[in-house]
Amino acid sequence: MTRPEAPAWEDPEPPEGPEPPEGPEPPEGLEPHSCRTPASPALELRKRYTTADLGVLTPEEASRFLPQGDGDPQNDVILAWELLYRLEPELYDRLASAERLHPGIVGWLPCGVDRIAEVGAGTGRLTMELIGRGQHVVAVEPARPMRRILRRKLAAADQGHRARVVHGFFDKLPLPDDSADLVVACSAFTPAAGHGGETGLAEMERVCRPGGCVAILWPNHLGWLTAHGYRHVSFPGPMSAEFGSYADAVELAEVFFPRAADEVRRLGTRMVPFEVLGINPPRDLAFKVQAG
Ligand SMILES: C[S@@+](CC[C@H](N)C(=O)[O-])C[C@H]1O[C@@H](n2cnc3c(N)ncnc32)[C@H](O)[C@@H]1O
Repeated sequence: MTRPEAPAWEDPEPPEGPEPPEGPEPPEGLEPHSCRTPASPALELRKRYTTADLGVLTPEEASRFLPQGDGDPQNDVILAWELLYRLEPELYDRLASAERLHPGIVGWLPCGVDRIAEVGAGTGRLTMELIGRGQHVVAVEPARPMRRILRRKLAAADQGHRARVVHGFFDKLPLPDDSADLVVACSAFTPAAGHGGETGLAEMERVCRPGGCVAILWPNHLGWLTAHGYRHVSFPGPMSAEFGSYADAVELAEVFFPRAADEVRRLGTRMVPFEVLGINPPRDLAFKVQAG
């Protein structure tokens, strides 16, 4: 169904949807999480947040990420990631900057298209590539602190004016039917209802025009996607996470890859093979061309 309230793709600046009841925008440089006692830099993600932090979630977010009404980020790492996006978005951004996508993935994406919708855009690892490939990019991102970082990056980028950053979720995209040439998500979509699921995939396909492409980059549930008619592409070659410095590699490994931290220390370099970190490298995508 077309959503009549959907903003036009060409609008210069998106009207932000109703913002969460979290008070007025803080002054520049005073992010909401700066009021919180920072976790020890090295405290691992699974131990970083407690149930006391769940209050950062808006009711809309809580309905998706806490479907039973409660949860404990120390027992639910997916919930811990959601708290990271809201409480320490810069820490996430340091990790995402190190985990660069295989250049084959970006090269594979259509170029010179008119409209691209990205869902779960985060701090813009992919968005910053998409502005060179489409005239109009809409980056949908539910976490307000992530949107703020992405807007800041776009404002400093040559073609940043091509992208608009809007609030939204996989299961309710604020875009009209058949309106994008490419609908894409990077490291964001999962089969779980709160992070996409059947409804989210149907929404991405609704927004994609006939003959256009829906692409899920760095998927971790390939079987589920192939069962939904998606095809798999993988780009070969060795891949390493490229941390800003050796110290950065050690600190981020302690938070995100605690089991690999000793090996990262031993390697003594800022370049750490993904196998050492124990995760699949960002070399895969799944895609479906919408029936014309
Ligand atoms: C691992 S981050 C990936 C961010 C970015 N795409 C990147 O590659 O760095 C996952 C992102 O998905 C967003 N996300 C989580 N649940 C979502 C949902 N239901 N709808 C849309 N985005 C969601 C998060 O806020 C977060 O920004």
